[in-house]
Amino acid sequence: QQRVAGLVARHTRDVADFPTPGVVFKDITPLFANAEAFGSVLDLLAERHEGGVDVVAGVEARGFVIGAPLAQRMGVGFVPIRKKGKLPGEVVAQSYDLEYGSATIEMHTDAVKPGARMLVIDDVLATGGTAVASCELVEKVGGSVVGFDVLVELAFLDGRARLERWPVHTGLVVG
Ligand code: PRP
Ligand code: HPA
Repeated sequence: QQRVAGLVARHTRDVADFPTPGVVFKDITPLFANAEAFGSVLDLLAERHEGGVDVVAGVEARGFVIGAPLAQRMGVGFVPIRKKGKLPGEVVAQSYDLEYGSATIEMHTDAVKPGARMLVIDDVLATGGTAVASCELVEKVGGSVVGFDVLVELAFLDGRARLERWPVHTGLVVG
């Protein structure tokens, strides 16, 4: 969506060689720091999915920052998708490769009711590893992925190609 892209572009900065040499990191903390711009982005995301979502799932860590206030705006619950070993209850897990390194994420087995319409939220789509693992986790706990939304898509890493099974919405597309 053009308006999300514009807001994200105006409030994002590039950090070269972070976290490793050769990576240009898109830093969206300036967006979070701007109440008006961040609020507008949340309004646009909420509008896009109006009436079609039962639960918002946010991916640690920046997906929490976006997902929790979005869930509140939409009048639905929020469920965390966490890095391994952080959730206290019974979990399902999924491992994946990252642009830099690898990781395992987890969700509570009883996080949602069967068939719940789930919107999965993160900040950046890079290689798509996190996104695929997140959507697969949601399905493992019995949810149905009605959208995977991020604010920034690093198109040169072609994460979108791995996400054909799910509806993907991105804001700012880079590369
Ligand atoms: C970043 C980002 C996405 C993921 C995207 O998180 O927030 O979750 O990487 O990369 P991918 O498309 O290649 O999987 P990170 O793992 O750095 O964790 P953090 O949010 O806890 O810092
Ligand atoms: N910015 C923020 N998060 C990320 C990036 C990035 O460039 N790449 C992978 N995760």
